[in-house]
Amino acid sequence: MSETLLEVNDLNVAFRLASANLTVSSDVSFSVDRGKVLGLIGESGSGKTVTSKAILRLLPKNASLEAKEIRFKGRDISTLTEAEFNLLRGTELAMIFQDPVGSFNPVKTIGWHFRTVGKLHRGAGAPRGEIMKDAKEVLAKADIADPENALRKYPHQMSGGMLQRCLIALVMFSKPSLIVADEPTTNLDNLVERQILDLFDKLRRETDASFIFITHDMTIAEMISDSVIVMYAGQIVEQGPTEALMRRPQHPYTQGLVRTARELEGEVETLTEISGEIGTGVHPENRCRFAPRCPLYEKACDHAIALRPVEGHGLVRCIKAGQDAEHEVTP
Ligand SMILES: Nc1ncnc2c1ncn2[C@@H]1O[C@H](COP(=O)(O)OP(=O)(O)OP(=O)(O)O)[C@@H](O)[C@H]1O
Ligand code: SF4
Ligand SMILES: [Mg+2]
Repeated sequence: MSETLLEVNDLNVAFRLASANLTVSSDVSFSVDRGKVLGLIGESGSGKTVTSKAILRLLPKNASLEAKEIRFKGRDISTLTEAEFNLLRGTELAMIFQDPVGSFNPVKTIGWHFRTVGKLHRGAGAPRGEIMKDAKEVLAKADIADPENALRKYPHQMSGGMLQRCLIALVMFSKPSLIVADEPTTNLDNLVERQILDLFDKLRRETDASFIFITHDMTIAEMISDSVIVMYAGQIVEQGPTEALMRRPQHPYTQGLVRTARELEGEVETLTEISGEIGTGVHPENRCRFAPRCPLYEKACDHAIALRPVEGHGLVRCIKAGQDAEHEVTP
């Protein structure tokens, strides 16, 4: 029986701009089970990072966040004070960003970072030797060939792939329960990307941490996730178990993503694009947000579309979901 670690209910994020309020995350609700990986997928600007940062209270000052509740380990963390939340973020919740450079102090060695995190968790008087021994162990688990040497280095002395491994090790060092990984392989070449994905796969099997893994690549989501959320223009348009969602996507946008992934894998011969461009963030509420790009659009789509359960799948935000056997995307 799986245990819910995180439960997000009705999360909304808007940015206050000079001209207007820009809603970038609307009524987002989902949960993550302990030890599981939730893939969060969608094209650029769909709200993946903002939604995750909102959960970790990492939004910039011009953002406003509203949520019915954000429950972590059964407790509503949306009501915590900043001090209480900072403690939680340093211990139980962690985020790995696309570019590892920004997560390190450039004038300090990798060893200094491990010592700092070690003292934070174990107390200022924690023996240095013990911290460094454990640091070497976790670096080795992150496939760093010479941990001793890595601890002596400065961030700029490492390649992007090595630094991302060090960051993953540093995050794992504090044994968080939930790790948000925001496109952690985007800036890496194909081989290193594959190695880092394998590392995530290993960590998820060897620890009981849960992950929210953000990506714009359906193939990566399929490889790494137990369940998937697809976001479009700030809304969840489909969510469900990875296998069902990949085999028989229900929302036209998800179908486009899955088809493109299969085409890139060479299982389908032609490469099609999901036509049109993502909107401006200002959405008429009397129309499906995907309508301007949807090949299945009809007059009946001209109202706000709710997420609804579809048998054998999860939740889908489309009036036609569950109606059509041709939704199956096969090689
Ligand atoms: N500080 C900000 N001020 C105003 N708008 C912002 C700010 N940060 C993000 N946005 C807007 O919020 C929307 C969602 O951005 P977000 O970064 O979450 O997208 P994303 O899905 O993570 O995209 P990507 O794949 O490019 O990382 C975008 O329209 C973006 O322009
Ligand atoms: S509700 Fe209509 S416009 Fe929206 S995704 Fe479904 S078919 Fe397309
Ligand atoms: Mg992003």
